[in-house]
Amino acid sequence: MDFSRRSFLGTGIGAGIATGALSGVGMAPAFADLGTKMPDWHLGYQNAPPAGFDPSPMKLVFGKVPAGLKGSLYRNGPAQMQYGDTFASHWFDGDGFIHRIAIEDGQAVHTGRFAQTTKHRDEQAAQKFLVPGFGTEGDPTYPMMGPDDANAANTSVIVIDGKLYALWEGGSAYELDADTLDSVGVKSWSDDLSGMPFLAHPKTEPDGRVWNLGVGGSNVVIYRISAKGVLEDYTLVNIGASAYIHDWAMTDRHLIIMVQPWINEKMIPPFIDSFEWRPQDGLKLLIIDKNDTSKRRWAQAPARAFYHTGAAWEESDGTIRLDAALYAEPILGQDGGGPEIRGEWTPEYGSFNSVFTQIVIPTSGDAKLIETDLDGDFPQVDPRFHGKPRKLTALVTGASSVSPGATSLTVYNWETDHADRFNFGDTRMVEEFLFVPKPGGTTEEESWLVGPVLNIKSGKREIVVFDAAGVSDGPLCIWQADYSWPLGFHGTWA
Ligand SMILES: [Fe+2]
Repeated sequence: MDFSRRSFLGTGIGAGIATGALSGVGMAPAFADLGTKMPDWHLGYQNAPPAGFDPSPMKLVFGKVPAGLKGSLYRNGPAQMQYGDTFASHWFDGDGFIHRIAIEDGQAVHTGRFAQTTKHRDEQAAQKFLVPGFGTEGDPTYPMMGPDDANAANTSVIVIDGKLYALWEGGSAYELDADTLDSVGVKSWSDDLSGMPFLAHPKTEPDGRVWNLGVGGSNVVIYRISAKGVLEDYTLVNIGASAYIHDWAMTDRHLIIMVQPWINEKMIPPFIDSFEWRPQDGLKLLIIDKNDTSKRRWAQAPARAFYHTGAAWEESDGTIRLDAALYAEPILGQDGGGPEIRGEWTPEYGSFNSVFTQIVIPTSGDAKLIETDLDGDFPQVDPRFHGKPRKLTALVTGASSVSPGATSLTVYNWETDHADRFNFGDTRMVEEFLFVPKPGGTTEEESWLVGPVLNIKSGKREIVVFDAAGVSDGPLCIWQADYSWPLGFHGTWA
């Protein structure tokens, strides 16, 4: 352990960071000191400024920026959760706000902009929620012509051949300028597929080809997009149930559609009201050959809910392994983060109750689950190994006793079953960290992990860099913005 790094996080930047930060002990009384209407963790759920954030240099407040770290961390998340006294009913319904943290020559510059979707423009003009969503009723008189009228563009981002897209699972990808984050508009991959949903979790092969799903009820479209951003092919599949599909998995040879028993047969907004949890159906896995999508087989696993996979890989005998954050039931989707959005969350609401799990799918017979003792989500892998045999997955772990956020970054090693963890303590809410390969490196360990945290004591945002080979050694460096921005969902590195 590098004591200087830990001591920074324990005693810290700015006033008020208690020395108990790393253990999470004794922090709660400090939260009453701010005198604000909301608890300070609620910074993570407040609106972003309508005009966004113009490019602003962040300040290096800790450590030394590793040589060779160069690129942009893009992030996306809901950032309009309130109009007047009215809150969005579900975290999935806030308008998408895209961040770029451009890192070069040891400097980090933050920019942020709302995606100027139809929903965002109309609701900003009216200064109220109009559009029905995942959990939000909206205004029944609002004219809805198609899914993209409800497009919140708020879930993730992908860069394909230099073009940046904000993603939302119910509608099209939404293009923004990759430098300025100015909105370009809804992306249509082909005339046939105009307006078709495009999930927020596309999978990129190491050579740049992108696969994705679009889900409408029990119908799924499989997209195959070249590294140049051109639609190569698409296939329609019926998966037999209107299951909630947020993420999926891919090996170098197969796509795996995971049909969880969280079913919505009505499919009318607000969708959350008509989902049914049917554990008797189990978790069904549809395995599709990438070279011939007509070659398909099913496997059965015990009932679990999930939002996110890490990635899948395949052994020489055809056994498929994939890791995912699995839940006994779909808790977050059902309560929608409402208590967090309204500032009413208390520790009694609890946090994630996931089990980070490896699903093993044999070439015939039922799948089995290998469960770890890690409670976490937002799993990420080294993009050079996506779909290939690998051992490392980074995920966000650890419940805070004072905020609804996670406290820790953990790298799990499937070869050694070792969890390498850094605990920020209750002072920071930890978001998804991404693997960034070191220039010239060839192994998973030869990566950095780059991600954002919200420092709820200083009320400022930080971008943190770790060495993937030893996150428990603490951060390599931390940049800090002069301001906060709300919690997001997912990012990408380009
Ligand atoms: Fe997600």
